[in-house]
Amino acid sequence: MRIDIISLFPEMFAGFLESSIPLRARKKGFLDLQLHNLRDYSTNRYKSVDDYPYGGGAGMVISIEPVDNCISALKAERDYDEVIFTSPDAPVLDQPTANTLSLCRNIIILCGHYKGVDERIREHLVTREISIGDYVLSGGELAAAVITDAVVRLIPGVLNDETSALSDSFQNGLLSPPVYTRPPEYKGWKVPEVLLGGNDRLKEQWRYEQALARTRERRPSLLDDKA
Ligand code: ADE
Repeated sequence: MRIDIISLFPEMFAGFLESSIPLRARKKGFLDLQLHNLRDYSTNRYKSVDDYPYGGGAGMVISIEPVDNCISALKAERDYDEVIFTSPDAPVLDQPTANTLSLCRNIIILCGHYKGVDERIREHLVTREISIGDYVLSGGELAAAVITDAVVRLIPGVLNDETSALSDSFQNGLLSPPVYTRPPEYKGWKVPEVLLGGNDRLKEQWRYEQALARTRERRPSLLDDKA
């Protein structure tokens, strides 16, 4: 998969790209992630990318021209399945959306910033908008990193144990059950007896019941459409 991220702060992605699953995905050739500095697509001599909002108000607004220049340059090279815009006033990212995006070949992610972007960008250039939660970040860069991580780990072959992405929280609509490792007892705190025994059916049943109880307690709304 190719992901092109358009941002005013491409340096924010450095650590993320050099670590963990995103690094592994890039090394294995599953992810080609390209960063583009929006300022490079400004045509004015000050390299500015924003302007005052029509009608007044606080903050600057990202102009349409550099964004269109960048997206057009990318689209001239290949077709894109989605042009995503990160913004707090968008539908919130969930696992089904990540699953859908993991099937794409080429994606552009435009990181929002400042007060916002000229609405015509959202109307005419963007195909999907994503928020990563009901809080406001300084910019869309962390959101773009979150989306990238959630999507890339679902590409078959990126994770060593392919079943581990399928058994994640949310993949079956439930939170994950608790997990334990050795020692079986630490400071008197014990691993549940059933997990130490040899009955796989009982272990599976225990995991399902725990997942259900945890979901009911922590995120009951996830059970609403299962009732
Ligand atoms: N930009 C600022 N806040 C954001 C959020 N919560 N999700 C996505 N993009 C954002």
